[in-house]
Amino acid sequence: MDKTSSCNFLFLILFLSSLSLACSDTYQTFLQCLQSKSPQPSQISSILYAPTNSGFQPTLESYVRNLRFNRSTTRKPDLIVTPKTEAHVSYAVLCAQAVNTQLKIRSGGHDYDGISYVSEQPFILLDMFNLRSISIDLPTQTAWVGAGAQLGELYYHISTKSKTLGFPAGVCPTVGVGGHLSGGGYGNMLRKYGLSVDHVLDAKIVDVKGRILDRKGMGEDLFWAIRGGGGASFGVVLSYKIGLVPVPETVTVFRIERTLAQNATEIVYRWQFVADKIDNGLFIRLLLQPVTLNKVRTVRASFIGQFLGDAEKLVQVMGAGFPELGLKKEDCMETSWIGSVLYWANFDNGTKPEALLSRVPNSVSYGKRKSDYLQNPISKDGLELIWKKMIEVGKTGFVFNPYGGRMSEIPAGETPFPHRAGNICKIQYSVNWDDAGLAADNEYIDQIRRLYAFMAPFVSKAPRGAYLNYRDLDIGTNQNGKNSYEEGKVYGDKYFLGNFQRLVKVKTMVDPGNFFRNEQSIPTFRA
Ligand SMILES: Cc1cc2nc3c(=O)[nH]c(=O)nc-3n(C[C@H](O)[C@H](O)[C@H](O)COP(=O)(O)OP(=O)(O)OC[C@H]3O[C@@H](n4cnc5c(N)ncnc54)[C@H](O)[C@@H]3O)c2cc1C
Ligand SMILES: *[C@@H]1O[C@H](CO)[C@@H](O)[C@H](O)[C@H]1NC(C)=O
Ligand SMILES: *[C@@H]1O[C@H](CO)[C@@H](O)[C@H](O)[C@H]1NC(C)=O
Ligand SMILES: *[C@@H]1O[C@H](CO)[C@@H](O)[C@H](O)[C@H]1NC(C)=O
Repeated sequence: MDKTSSCNFLFLILFLSSLSLACSDTYQTFLQCLQSKSPQPSQISSILYAPTNSGFQPTLESYVRNLRFNRSTTRKPDLIVTPKTEAHVSYAVLCAQAVNTQLKIRSGGHDYDGISYVSEQPFILLDMFNLRSISIDLPTQTAWVGAGAQLGELYYHISTKSKTLGFPAGVCPTVGVGGHLSGGGYGNMLRKYGLSVDHVLDAKIVDVKGRILDRKGMGEDLFWAIRGGGGASFGVVLSYKIGLVPVPETVTVFRIERTLAQNATEIVYRWQFVADKIDNGLFIRLLLQPVTLNKVRTVRASFIGQFLGDAEKLVQVMGAGFPELGLKKEDCMETSWIGSVLYWANFDNGTKPEALLSRVPNSVSYGKRKSDYLQNPISKDGLELIWKKMIEVGKTGFVFNPYGGRMSEIPAGETPFPHRAGNICKIQYSVNWDDAGLAADNEYIDQIRRLYAFMAPFVSKAPRGAYLNYRDLDIGTNQNGKNSYEEGKVYGDKYFLGNFQRLVKVKTMVDPGNFFRNEQSIPTFRA
């Protein structure tokens, strides 16, 4: 080395170390910790990324599903670990404690407020995408599904084994099993079969001591908690064993749209008395959006239906129960269950089921969601006030998902998800935008908050219920890692109602030191 280059070299070292001293320290310590636990230490560096590695940025971005958290100003993890084996997960849990750093767990990255891969504090990202095996056992009609699997992959693999089995979970095929099933999980079969968590039979997790435990090993309290209480407060979910459900060979779907000028108010009003009581095989989602048609601002109501049966029977059921919508046979499309999955995921008619294996979503934008529960029908006058407000606010829409049926039969304490009998529907508030820049964030987030504030008189109260999987940091967060019981109770009561106390009890028992924590994790009783 000549004098200049050694000088440059020295400068480079000084420069890099002053930039990332803390980081590279963590990297070295963490790497050595992982290696010390592994029987194949030489393989460990391939699962660990420091910000200076070329693989860091693409790995981080692969599962960012909300562009609000894809900015250069978004805090990045100190390290990313991408375990390839269950043992790797266990090492990561132990070593994150050894370096005293928060661990964030990501499976599909669909958290609406990004908390699986963003934090206020320094953190290590544990990214589960490699652990996505799916094994289906036809004789017992069960399957083991890795946390990193996507719902579309699960549906696809079920459909290659059987035309008459399915699984009740979400409609977006890129949603991850790890977050979805640990947070509840619902889709268009919830009136017939309830939530995803109502069909979880066993699970494997890594606990705070790094142990790999199944249902028997973890015990019934912890097994209860990770079926709706959010996995990330309790451990790392490796996989779930699920029970598949029967589906008919013919499933029928439809979509009917009505604007205010086409009697939408009357039909939406009626929907509230019908959608949670009609045949349990029928799910009629109601989408409400402010739109401009022929230069007139109006609200469009879209009724998107799924019926576990054929079109002829569906038209009968609708004629008897919901004639106001005027569903005709020509409005219906008969398909297979997997065909209905593709339909709900907005694929073009005729798309092959293999499309469900894609890990790239159709589109990614900026977005914000909030949720509510409707327990009493809104009057026509009330609906008209809401339309006016939606049009005034601008872009935020609603998705009404009807409950009733099986949802009302399952006791509120059966799983941590408490919003069962007594709810007509869950309301999702939804706004997406494409303009980059913080001004747009502020504008649209303000819109959705104004509509949410306006809706208070119409929805559940004291506490105002919310759905954990529709993550909304507006309803309360805990302060940087303190995670006091009082703070946790604010959002915990809304997500879990009477089940919050039991979740705190389980948390206190299995993770008293509160290692598994995030902005809305379950607190312990007393730190
Ligand atoms: C486009 C879109 C459509 C959706 N549609 C539906 C729907 O139809 N029905 C419905 O119920 N929900 C729906 N959701 C919400 C979805 O269920 C939740 O966002 C869910 O938590 C996503 O799981 P994930 O693994 O993809 O998310 P992630 O962002 O990876 O994780 C979400 C949360 O779970 C934790 N977590 C993730 N993996 C693990 C693990 N292995 N162990 C422990 N904790 C873990 C994370 O730390 C985080 O707190 C939708 C979301 C989006 C973005
Ligand atoms: C996220 O940001 C990076 C860097 O600016 C960009 O290359 C990438 O396309 C963005 N992701 C999406 C989904 O737009
Ligand atoms: C609206 O309802 C009225 C009365 O119920 C009916 O006469 C009319 O045809 C309906 N309009 C549309 C577009 O369905
Ligand atoms: C989809 O395609 C099938 C067969 O090609 C056809 O019968 C059906 O009407 C189509 N459905 C829609 C909604 O276009």
